[in-house]
Amino acid sequence: MHNIRQMINNLYWVGVNDRKTSLFENIHPIPEGISYNSYLLMDEKTVLLDTVDSSVCNNFIDNVKYVLGERDLDYLIINHMEPDHAACIGLIESLYPNVKVIGNKKTFELMAKFGFEVKENSIEVKDGDTISFGQHEFTFILAPMVHWPETMASFDKTTGVLFSADAFGTFGALNGRLFNDEVDFEREFLLPARRYYTNIVGKYGPQVQSLLKKAHGHDIKWIAPLHGPVWRSNLDYFIEKYDKWSLYEPEEKGVLIVYGSMYGNTELAAEDLARRLVEKGMTNISMYDASRTHVSYLIADAFKYSHIVLASSTYNLNIYTPIQNFILDMKAVNLKKRTIGLIENGSWAPMAKKLMRELLGTMKEMNILDNDILITSSMKDENIEEMEAMAEAIIQSMDK
Ligand code: FEO
Repeated sequence: MHNIRQMINNLYWVGVNDRKTSLFENIHPIPEGISYNSYLLMDEKTVLLDTVDSSVCNNFIDNVKYVLGERDLDYLIINHMEPDHAACIGLIESLYPNVKVIGNKKTFELMAKFGFEVKENSIEVKDGDTISFGQHEFTFILAPMVHWPETMASFDKTTGVLFSADAFGTFGALNGRLFNDEVDFEREFLLPARRYYTNIVGKYGPQVQSLLKKAHGHDIKWIAPLHGPVWRSNLDYFIEKYDKWSLYEPEEKGVLIVYGSMYGNTELAAEDLARRLVEKGMTNISMYDASRTHVSYLIADAFKYSHIVLASSTYNLNIYTPIQNFILDMKAVNLKKRTIGLIENGSWAPMAKKLMRELLGTMKEMNILDNDILITSSMKDENIEEMEAMAEAIIQSMDK
């Protein structure tokens, strides 16, 4: 049975929601589900934009067949070859053998690598090329590394719809809604959107900046990403978020505290610092146990807040493993421009603070506060003064 939405006149959403997959890319939990968006234009020619994940190919094909009716499929535009969007290409090619695939040089290289047939009648486009499908004329905007090297966006000059691939995507199933004005984006989607961007595309800030600059030259009225709501109003709200995220600028002045604590003593030190910050007027605080929080949530908040405090036990003469993983993940997505405070707990051979400082020192534009703290097994009166000093140093650095 089909489940489609009409967007503008002859443009349809033929995507599918997925609430069964528990880990996106087999890493990131998606308790809120996800949508794989695909779009079908019924112009003088019929044009499908991307496909969906293998787990939902059947529902997707029902949607495509329903909208096409008796018509054949003329073109398939592949904006992104990652299998969550490309898994049904083979099925489309076998159901519609006359279809011409439109992609760029790297699209076809990846199609071959993934084992799809690259037909002789495929159309290779370059940055800025245009193709008319009847009333609608499309321009292709290459967006390499947003998020894979072949990624491109397609802009429908006739309607002003930018099919933006992974850019402007979010985790979260759509639950019948499709457009940004049908959802409470701040409440329902901002956190999944931040978690999606920072973990999936976050490493590629300069490439996102380059896409934003290229897109600026077009009269964009809608943004239709491959995941999440389609934007048809208030575009600047989401573009500003993307601008900030891709420049690695914090969204808010505030403190993310992440602790790794075996028996609760390191957690208590983190609690102590949080209380002192609040008493000094900084109430925008988020605190997580690294052992119990998937690192994708920590990465999202690391992009959100201006300050990060890491409180780690020494473990096997090293950084407590979940805290080490968090630092390595921050490094992997190129996070920068944060102020960092360090607390360590070591009973006989404390190493965590030194090693955290060394690891963080390999990242760019990180301001690691001098006021770090060592507690030995548990926090004691002798730590109060330095804890107070760290809280004060964090507050003072907020104004810089
Ligand atoms: Fe949703 Fe990079 O794929």
